[in-house]
Amino acid sequence: MSIRPTAYEFFAGGGLAGLGMAGLDTIFANDMDAAKARAFVANHPGTPFRQVDVWGLTVEDLPGRPDLAWASSPCQDVSLAGARGGLEAGRSGAFWGFWRLMQGLEAEGRGPRVVVLENVIGLLTSGQGRDFAAVCTAMAEAGYAVGALEMDAAHWLPQSRPRLFVAAVKGEAPRADGPSAPFHSARLIAAHARLPEAVKAAWAWWSLPQPPRRNLDLAAVLEPDAAVAWLDDPEAILALAAPLHQARIAAALGSGQRTVGAAYRRVRIEHGRKVQRLEIRFDGLAGCLRTPAGGSSRQYVVVCDQGRVRVRRLTGREAARLMGVSNAYRLPASESAALKLMGDAVAVPVVRALTEGLLLPALAGRRAAA
Ligand SMILES: C[S@@+](CC[C@H](N)C(=O)[O-])C[C@H]1O[C@@H](n2cnc3c(N)ncnc32)[C@H](O)[C@@H]1O
Repeated sequence: MSIRPTAYEFFAGGGLAGLGMAGLDTIFANDMDAAKARAFVANHPGTPFRQVDVWGLTVEDLPGRPDLAWASSPCQDVSLAGARGGLEAGRSGAFWGFWRLMQGLEAEGRGPRVVVLENVIGLLTSGQGRDFAAVCTAMAEAGYAVGALEMDAAHWLPQSRPRLFVAAVKGEAPRADGPSAPFHSARLIAAHARLPEAVKAAWAWWSLPQPPRRNLDLAAVLEPDAAVAWLDDPEAILALAAPLHQARIAAALGSGQRTVGAAYRRVRIEHGRKVQRLEIRFDGLAGCLRTPAGGSSRQYVVVCDQGRVRVRRLTGREAARLMGVSNAYRLPASESAALKLMGDAVAVPVVRALTEGLLLPALAGRRAAA
């Protein structure tokens, strides 16, 4: 029998949460998507995995008694980037498909000591805060201390990717008397203030060590220039940049230095009209990797050097590195499937920091208490 703590990984995608939960053994994982399932199985051959809608699972499908349950429930409906149907709507309702299983486990005396929900920051405000309140209320009513952390992958990796982690814990875990930067952001503090009093009574300001200084920048994760295909006609796409972004290119060219940037092509509404825009940054970070909803949103690499601008698509392998995934990870053969897999995923070093700083300490007393 394993003496390491055990975890379930719901909405597991390519299994990046499990890669970050070093020190825990994943004893069950699920995802309903066939491409995600293939990626999970290829990279975690020893982990029991079910390709199934969470609503299709019952507690009988779940093995043993997990110490922790992780849910990266879909974020489309609560995302700031998309329409806001809220947690009750469609796909994000999947959280409740997960929570019903937690309740079933608890009824059998198999409830996990720790539950983590990973989601987009939009969860704090979707439905005028009702979604966040509903999640925290469910956890508090189940007897957990509840707290949340806003963690940006940019503390560890060259990608700006703020995400919300709601952690529910039974027992002791590192906590502080009040909020502290950087993981308790102003918007998280505001969302806490809107919670019902009963949830505030169960609230914990989880405390994590300060993140290290990031020592990697975008250029460090990119393929050598000669190994990738560059666009023949970069001007066509550069023409989509708004004046501010054109000015950034001009400044990069003017510096006389080789300057590497990231760009994101997306549709924006300007003056009531949909327009394609290219957003460029040269701050050593990539913008948040996303799953393209339509065919047009895409991440690019822009290099300004010796008076010339070159542009190319970000590769799936580069996207994986931006998520903190090692080169040994087996990506889907199709570039678009690899980009989708990574655009949906959770950044590995963020999960690792949460695991080391909060989850493992929260589980440290589990055997004594069990
Ligand atoms: C935000 S992604 C999580 C990815 C994962 N954390 C990773 O690192 O790769 C959400 C995942 O939930 C899956 N999903 C969405 N609705 C689901 C449902 N009802 N049942 C099971 N899986 C679902 C999607 O296929 C997607 O892979």
